[in-house]
Amino acid sequence: MARAETVVHDAAEVVVGKREGAWPGGDAGDDLLAVHENAGVAVVDGEVAMVGPSDDVCREYPPENAETAYEATGQSVVPGFVDPHTHAVFAGDRSDEFEAKLRGKQYQEILEEGGGILRTVRAVREATEDELVANLREHLDAMLAYGSTTVEVKSGYGLDTETELKLLSAIETAAETHAVDVVPTFMGAHAVPEGMDTDAYVDAVVDEQLPAVADQGVAEFCDVFCEEGVFGVEQSRRVLEASVDAGLTPKVHAEELAHIGGTELAAEVGATSADHLLHSTRADVDGLVENDVVPVVLPGTAFGLGAEYADAQEMLDAGAPVAVATDFNPNCHSRSMGFAQSLCCVEMGMTPAQSLVAATEHAALALDRPARGRLDVGAPADMAIVDAPSHVHVPYQFGENTVDAVFKDGTRVA
Ligand code: NIG
Ligand code: FE
Repeated sequence: MARAETVVHDAAEVVVGKREGAWPGGDAGDDLLAVHENAGVAVVDGEVAMVGPSDDVCREYPPENAETAYEATGQSVVPGFVDPHTHAVFAGDRSDEFEAKLRGKQYQEILEEGGGILRTVRAVREATEDELVANLREHLDAMLAYGSTTVEVKSGYGLDTETELKLLSAIETAAETHAVDVVPTFMGAHAVPEGMDTDAYVDAVVDEQLPAVADQGVAEFCDVFCEEGVFGVEQSRRVLEASVDAGLTPKVHAEELAHIGGTELAAEVGATSADHLLHSTRADVDGLVENDVVPVVLPGTAFGLGAEYADAQEMLDAGAPVAVATDFNPNCHSRSMGFAQSLCCVEMGMTPAQSLVAATEHAALALDRPARGRLDVGAPADMAIVDAPSHVHVPYQFGENTVDAVFKDGTRVA
């Protein structure tokens, strides 16, 4: 008998992750998941010490000796969700743009008129760092309650050195005081500031912002909005190559509104992920697979814009480790990885098992954190307890929060 800090027992099922050798190396079809029924999990030093039949776990790690015992009768235990793409630190309100878009206004029209990202930039420049921290904490609270235990957060609503540093510092402060693991990304190349020429702004990102961001030492990744009418492929390449020299790892917003070559760029610069991909081709996807770039789909954005969805089926056929994220931002106000999984299934033809893998271990790959997103022995014990006997209820109960409790590194945090 041994002593665990946390024992979760009598769960209807515990989903460990994919079966060994399954997608993307092998079949992504039926029988994708490694699942224990009538199962439990014991946690020692924040890591999974044992996972398997509840009786065996309770014999080895008696719940009555644990600091926290959680009886999960009728519930399903899944790895905590990893949200690998958000713009969660911002200020202001753009709900009126939601109404304008419903009346037929295009996202890019709004941006060209100084709304959209540029409007959030004005609000962020006026906000204090404390206000940004408070806003971000509130969003992280919601994400955690919905089951996300690791969340990437991008800057990009500053568009000048001072405000980009303020955003990254707010991300750092919120991260230090929150249970969610926050992964900070610098995205100075999110839009071109009003009244500025694109090449001149790229110079500013490369020569002024990136060195200051590297000095500050908060950001881990660097992302670029590589898009028609925003940053072209060569401009994006300049930013991403400079970011590598500054010690950051590239990510790319690619082929969202048009196909301009952002996926190829992602493969060339060694990006960890290429995100959006509404207009990517099969050749693009093959290039991502060959270069170990994780494709991240963001179906909430397509849902909010009433746009087409990315072709997840093509990515599955290509054997790509498809990941999913919320893309939470003022244009896509969803903090729920459960809803993102519903859209994966209903709108993109993925199975519940595929969408769960996309929201956990593949999403962890998109953040270069391969240890997160699975519940193997030795893995960090990040768990979402779903208030239903099967993980299928996560996408099935669309628009609802099915998560009843959340454990981060073995500690109950929601
Ligand atoms: O990923 N596409 C660019 N960035 C965000 C939108 C940000 C905004 O509209 O505020 C995205 O969808
Ligand atoms: Fe985005």
